Amino acid sequence: MLGNFTYHNPTQLYFGEDALEYLNDELPKYGKNVQLIYGGGSIKKNGLYDSIVDILRRNGKEVFEDAGVMPNPTIEKLREGIKIARDNNVDLLLAVGGGSCCDYAKAVSVSVHCDEDPWEKYYIRFEEPTCEILPVGCILTMAGTGSEMNGGAVITNHEAKLKIGHVFGDEVMPKFSILNPKYTYSLPKHQMVAGIYDIFNHICEQYFSGEDDNTSDYISEALMKSVVHSSLIAVENPEDYEARSNIMWTATWALNTLISRGKSTDWMVHMLGQSVGAYTDATHGMTLAAVSLPYYRYIMPYGLAKFKRFAEEVWGVCADGKTDEQVAEEGLKAMEEWMKKIGVAMNITELGVTEDMIDGIANGTIILEGGYKVLNKDEVIRILRASL
Ligand code: NZQ
Ligand code: ZN
Repeated sequence: MLGNFTYHNPTQLYFGEDALEYLNDELPKYGKNVQLIYGGGSIKKNGLYDSIVDILRRNGKEVFEDAGVMPNPTIEKLREGIKIARDNNVDLLLAVGGGSCCDYAKAVSVSVHCDEDPWEKYYIRFEEPTCEILPVGCILTMAGTGSEMNGGAVITNHEAKLKIGHVFGDEVMPKFSILNPKYTYSLPKHQMVAGIYDIFNHICEQYFSGEDDNTSDYISEALMKSVVHSSLIAVENPEDYEARSNIMWTATWALNTLISRGKSTDWMVHMLGQSVGAYTDATHGMTLAAVSLPYYRYIMPYGLAKFKRFAEEVWGVCADGKTDEQVAEEGLKAMEEWMKKIGVAMNITELGVTEDMIDGIANGTIILEGGYKVLNKDEVIRILRASL
């Protein structure tokens, strides 16, 4: 049964080749001081930086640079960003990059006017912001996380060996996001396919939970088929606009709060992947890919009907003359073949995990209860070992 829910997504989205023009419509809504947040320099190489700075200047904005946001942004970097915003009375946080820049901007937005330590408040105690929140705008250059239209903000604390996400509410979600699929053309293949697997897994996390007849599951199947189809084209031809635009839009829909409405969700692959990330700093989508198959094979008997449905609806497995288990396993086999074809990480050893890290990674894995089987620590260890 569809549970009760409210639904509202406040992010204004501009999509397509001319989307950046709409920055001119958005900027007048905010004050003069703009904190320009970006990563390690890809936007300087592909020329996007110059175009954005030009638009900011033409709109009379004062620009405060906040460069060097690393993949898997750290708590130390967050503290730097808070200082830049405080020192310059920033009115708008403009993130240009992938999920890391967008997430980081949201984490800065709830911390600038907060008197408490953000790590303790948001990532250990999971409290909601009670202070003024700075507005965030995103210009997306990588498809994957859905951060452009959600309240998620994942921060890594290397000292504590923890990578934790806080999903904030509507008031923290970007006020606007600009999505031009062409910006993703310059992504290295490794990042492109990691993003593609991230999209696919976001849908899985919301699909593999519950046994009811839910509209969300039908939408999810369509989204998964679209990602698989477009990914195979994009891997062959990264400049296929149709494929890249479908991937970008599917990424947004996979995690913009719609498909989770009214249903339970799992998210254990993300919990396992995040803990692997805290130990290795590996690319987010790759950490998910590397633990997914052992996890799904382990929980399959507890959610057999859904895994059978997944095999038939997403992968076109023919069920004639086969047991439910055989059909379900064929579905996972088809998923495995697709993963190998696009070239994602197939185990955590290739991400740098060694046997002696397993216990620590298991300790850092937050156990959630929405999936088909609530894991205990021994089971987490078993799944991690099977992922080596
Ligand atoms: O830093 P630059 O030089 O820009 O390079 C980046 C970075 O090295 C590069 N890149 C991005 N766009 C590019 C490009 N290189 C060339 N051309 C372009 N157009 O790609 C690298 C990775 O970027 P990053 O932003 O880290 O990737 P992604 O979008 O996958 O974001 C990952 C972060 O988002 C979090 C992850 O945990 C991770 O910290 N997540 C956020 C979620 C959310 N908000 O809901 C959910 C996700 O599950 C995820 O946890
Ligand atoms: Zn993810």
